Amino acid sequence: MKAFVFERTGDPNNVLAVQELPEPKPGTGEILVRVRLSPVHPSDLHIMRGRFGRQPMLPATPGIECVGVVEALGSGVAGPAPGTRVVLLNVWGSWRELILSPAERVIPVPADLSDEDAAQALVNPVTAWVMTMVEHDLKPGDWLAQTAAGSTVGQLVLQLARSERFRTVNIVRRRAQVPDIKALGGDVVITSEDDDWGMQLATASEGKVLSRAIDCVAGRTGATVARHLAPGGRMLVYGALSSHRQTDPSAFEMPVFAPRLIYNAAAVQGWYLLHWLEVTPLDDCAAIFAKVLDRLASGALRLPPAKLHRPQNIADALRDADGASREGKPLLDLSSWAAD
Ligand SMILES: NC(=O)c1ccc[n+]([C@@H]2O[C@H](COP(=O)([O-])OP(=O)(O)OC[C@H]3O[C@@H](n4cnc5c(N)ncnc54)[C@H](OP(=O)(O)O)[C@@H]3O)[C@@H](O)[C@H]2O)c1
Repeated sequence: MKAFVFERTGDPNNVLAVQELPEPKPGTGEILVRVRLSPVHPSDLHIMRGRFGRQPMLPATPGIECVGVVEALGSGVAGPAPGTRVVLLNVWGSWRELILSPAERVIPVPADLSDEDAAQALVNPVTAWVMTMVEHDLKPGDWLAQTAAGSTVGQLVLQLARSERFRTVNIVRRRAQVPDIKALGGDVVITSEDDDWGMQLATASEGKVLSRAIDCVAGRTGATVARHLAPGGRMLVYGALSSHRQTDPSAFEMPVFAPRLIYNAAAVQGWYLLHWLEVTPLDDCAAIFAKVLDRLASGALRLPPAKLHRPQNIADALRDADGASREGKPLLDLSSWAAD
């Protein structure tokens, strides 16, 4: 069986290699899955560079989500039956032909869901769902402020806003994005290209109970949003895009304005999917994952288009994941190895 492996951390182009490994056999309570597609997320690059919040033991295989087909069941496992299309709930190392998973982390995929969407159903869609529907518990009529509204997570949040009828104040960094976010249903859209965008946010906040926010930009942008939280408000910081490729440590700093934080008794809190998956009972995680899969299958949630890459073209996939490619999420077609 072929697998991508890195034995040390560093530039993904230098540390990643293809290795021939023995075919794994499912043990008690395990399921063997033949991987079809696995995305190249920025977090995979952070992991190979040794900069992620959770690092695997080395040598390791990248890939934190995938879609595949059940190949074989270990003893004591009743199903899903071989041949069933499945996704895995927080099982790492999916850039390989065959992967072992604890049986309870193997979730069948609805028939109507494409492989492309199933392969990327966990990291961004579950993040969007949990932050809005669980952590912030948004109800119809509530307001949510978000940064990088044009990101994949941001667009999913806008779709949820439509279906769950909460309202959004959106911040984007390019003026050209404003009409797109409005077309997606954003109620208020502000661009940080405007020098006075903080004032615009203050004006937009008037008369609204802007007590919930999510931010994946951090730096001055996130701090400005925190400043406009309503009394008792809470902002979840889930990304730090200000520090491009995590190479500018100063951009990780958030100059939060203390008096507003104190007098408003507001909170700025980190949010990390992997932490949430670790502290939440597995049944609850699986139930939310299944709900998100159903929404994707019905078209109630839609992901931006993806771009398939053969494993031989890994350099292109890494480049697309690292840069500002607009061609779609890079997906590794690991089933194509078998055909070679
Ligand atoms: N904490 C967690 O567990 C968790 C889970 C999932 C995702 N995330 C994080 O969420 C963020 C978004 O992920 P994604 O996959 O949705 O992103 P994505 O689809 O790749 O989109 C990135 C977006 O961010 C914008 N952007 C990039 N740098 C920016 C900056 N310095 N200031 C303002 N906007 C900027 C881009 O705008 P342009 O269109 O102008 O380029 C683009 O709209 C990432 O930081 C990711 O690591 C975190």
